[in-house]
Amino acid sequence: MPGPILIFDSGVGGLSVAAAIRERLPDAALAYVCDNAMLPYGTKPDDWLVTRIAAVCEQAVRLSSASALVVACNTASTLALEVLRSRLTIPVVGTVPAIKPAAAASRSGVIALLATSATVNRPYTRRLIDTFAAHCRVLRLAADPLVGEAERCLAGGVANDAVIEACLAPLWQETALDSVVLGCTHFPLLRSRLLAASPRPVAWIDSGAAIARRVADVVTAIAPRRAPQRAWATAPQAALAATLNARGFPCLAALSLPSGAAAPAHPVR
Ligand code: DGL
Repeated sequence: MPGPILIFDSGVGGLSVAAAIRERLPDAALAYVCDNAMLPYGTKPDDWLVTRIAAVCEQAVRLSSASALVVACNTASTLALEVLRSRLTIPVVGTVPAIKPAAAASRSGVIALLATSATVNRPYTRRLIDTFAAHCRVLRLAADPLVGEAERCLAGGVANDAVIEACLAPLWQETALDSVVLGCTHFPLLRSRLLAASPRPVAWIDSGAAIARRVADVVTAIAPRRAPQRAWATAPQAALAATLNARGFPCLAALSLPSGAAAPAHPVR
């Protein structure tokens, strides 16, 4: 019997990808893991992140007996996909900014990438832009505070509209801008707040549906959804358990990394 499709993120952002996978594969068994003890990833150093991401994913794949891993985090995918693929024997599907569809759909040729600091500055992201959006003007905008806003909203809090407006403000200086890539999986969770904070209409483009299509292509033996779907967190808390429960993951457990595994403490910056 194949194992579930395991979805990984630093926090609740991967739930935006889980929703897209659920829509595409309603009967598939899913599992979720988040490294919320180390949230946010987007402002942490690359070498530390690679080691940490590999340790968390390896342990979660072991515990869940997953048949595939979805790295539902742009910050992790633009850095660690190769390492994960070399260390795991199951298919690994990454989430990278939807530059290609945004550039193809833009009529004005002016688009923006809204993502974490890490993602906007990655060589992987530059290559995506050079390959698929060379004909466009691409504004790269770091919006790390939106990660915290999404976490707060999903935990039942209220988003701080002033923070959202400040993050988006540079977009509106580009008068011809017509498409914004949501290059962090947390950001689609704020979609209604982003729309409310926009002085004019633009297309907000995320990778969820494309990832779900890719998962459906790659995972050949899909486990049926029978038992309650499990989740793991490196810092399980009641609010997170409630959020995951409301989105179909009722069983939250602590993910501890084995002693001796690469499990670095919080990096000193
Ligand atoms: N959700 C993650 C992403 O797609 C990162 C959020 C963070 O931990 O900074 O990039």
